Amino acid sequence: MQVTMVVNGRSVSGDIEGRTLLVDFLRVGLHLTGTHVGCDTSQCGACAVHVDGALVKACTMFAAEAEGADVVTIEGVAAPDGTMSVVQQAFQDHHGLQCGFCTPGMVMAATSLLKANPKPSEQEIRHHLDGNICRCTGYHNIVKAIMAASGQEMPALAAE
Ligand code: FES
Ligand code: FES
Repeated sequence: MQVTMVVNGRSVSGDIEGRTLLVDFLRVGLHLTGTHVGCDTSQCGACAVHVDGALVKACTMFAAEAEGADVVTIEGVAAPDGTMSVVQQAFQDHHGLQCGFCTPGMVMAATSLLKANPKPSEQEIRHHLDGNICRCTGYHNIVKAIMAASGQEMPALAAE
């Protein structure tokens, strides 16, 4: 079957099987390998993308379901000249990553949160990241980076 959608501002089409997952269409069909696959149980969030503005785990959606949708992947987050988004820059500045495998999903989740809630509390950030697993950082610097991206500092007590 044929599927057409807008990915990172570009109209794309592909000939897919009905069972093709969105994450596979992005990674294999479009070579957008920044969207990662970290599990086969829909738990890790490494595959998170935005579909029509909503945060979606791309391994939980068929590509055919995204027909006509506006999809943004991690490759579409930075400005066209390569300037990192506020969230990406904050992850770099606050060491919000180690191996980086979870980072695309974390950035997509954080970007989505800040769009809906520009000044989230530490608790709200931790709650929002419930669907994203990081095996390296212990989450602290990820939360700190998101606080910084929202123009806030991590509360001193929680920083310990
Ligand atoms: S690969 Fe989608 S949640 Fe893990
Ligand atoms: S930085 Fe390695 S899994 Fe998060």
